[in-house]
Amino acid sequence: MAEPKKSWEHRLKENPDELAIDFVESLSYDKRLYKYDIAGSIAHANMLVSIGVIKKDECKLIKDGLLEISHEISEGKFKFDKACEDIHMAIEAALIRRIGEPGKKLHTGRSRNDQVATDIRLWMRDEIEILQVKISLLQGAFVKLAGKYTENLMPSYTHMQRAQPIVIAAYLLSFVEQLQRDWARLANCRTLLNVSPLGSGAVAGSTLALDRKNTCEQLGFADITYNSIDSVSDRDFCAEFIFDCSLVMTHLSKLAEDWIIYSSNEFGFIKTSDKYCTSSSMMPQKRNPDMLELVRGKTGAAYGALMAIMTILKAQPSTYNRDLQEDKIHVFKAADTARACLDMVKAIVDNTKFNAKHIEANLDGGFLDATALAEYLVKKSVPFRTAHGIVGTVVADCEANAVKLGDVELGEFKKHCASIEEDVYLSLGAANVVKAYASAGAAGSAQAQEQICYWKKTLSER
Ligand code: ARG
Repeated sequence: MAEPKKSWEHRLKENPDELAIDFVESLSYDKRLYKYDIAGSIAHANMLVSIGVIKKDECKLIKDGLLEISHEISEGKFKFDKACEDIHMAIEAALIRRIGEPGKKLHTGRSRNDQVATDIRLWMRDEIEILQVKISLLQGAFVKLAGKYTENLMPSYTHMQRAQPIVIAAYLLSFVEQLQRDWARLANCRTLLNVSPLGSGAVAGSTLALDRKNTCEQLGFADITYNSIDSVSDRDFCAEFIFDCSLVMTHLSKLAEDWIIYSSNEFGFIKTSDKYCTSSSMMPQKRNPDMLELVRGKTGAAYGALMAIMTILKAQPSTYNRDLQEDKIHVFKAADTARACLDMVKAIVDNTKFNAKHIEANLDGGFLDATALAEYLVKKSVPFRTAHGIVGTVVADCEANAVKLGDVELGEFKKHCASIEEDVYLSLGAANVVKAYASAGAAGSAQAQEQICYWKKTLSER
């Protein structure tokens, strides 16, 4: 008799409907876990030897068989049969076909429930490291670009209205900070997920004295989980991981939005290499920032995954339910999206120039120096609230007369506030303001340079 595809043919006498086979399978997407599934199985087999449940030579056959299967899968030679449902059963069935009886001992004291919980954790540990490397590379790209523009000015915006003058480097470094939090969040996520559920079985553990610390150590987990019921259903780390990817995407989409605007004719702040632009099938002049638009658009996929995982987890009865199989679709989607966008944005950052001269030539409008003028008055002992009012009035007059603050004559200033003196002009104009930034983390050249030093050192030590 041919080996059964499924391990429960003795229980269910009828063959599954084709429709059900297609519906229940996860092999089409969980096959990417194969290496981790095999690593978990090898650790489990070693442990079974150590507690005397299987013999050494049986374990050797199991391990050799699993490694051959791993090799076949990586070479693309393995035949995946969706009737096997998932990667766990596909590998186990292949092992039994290959080595016979000893293969049937591998699943002792184990369920796909603790197996899949182990596999995703192993996969996620690696994936987090890859994402962290990509984040660091992107941070490095921002730091490098910032290094070119420590002295060049640009307007900052709040509410998309001109706010205060900054150096371009400071703007770029703001993304390094955001990405740093993304990096750290992923590190936290890794710490929390790095515990071994293997040996929790289907839900209640096993009557066999499985040595869970043994498999835990073999797989490099920091500890075992301490409650089998929780272990098979905990997907908190999946939700966290997808959230972390979503926040990466939030930050990338913010950059994308900025740069789409900055590359418009109206702004003309930046130019990205043609390599990352597309044109129009109809309008011959077009140079479109499609890559950035796609980064912005793909953010939707990550947020969708986050909503999906939260909804999948909500109000499931304890403990494992098949709903949980869907977790991987969204975990993979979020990871793939973040990965691809981190790579794309890094390439764009590496290939973008700021039109520093054009930006500086247009810094006059928008009263970027108004806040600095109010602070000048504070230095002359005017209470800030009063100073704010005075400058507001002066700005309104300037606007009516289409002049800048620097054009106002001293006599005119004095009508508004007697404390204003000749030295006021040293506080006006974007360049003077930026030079005067004195607080830690301010958007001036000196602070940007300090940050660049810090980041160069930090990133090189990773
Ligand atoms: N493919 C399943 C999943 O990803 C494996 C666990 C199935 N367990 C079960 N008791 N049916 O969740």
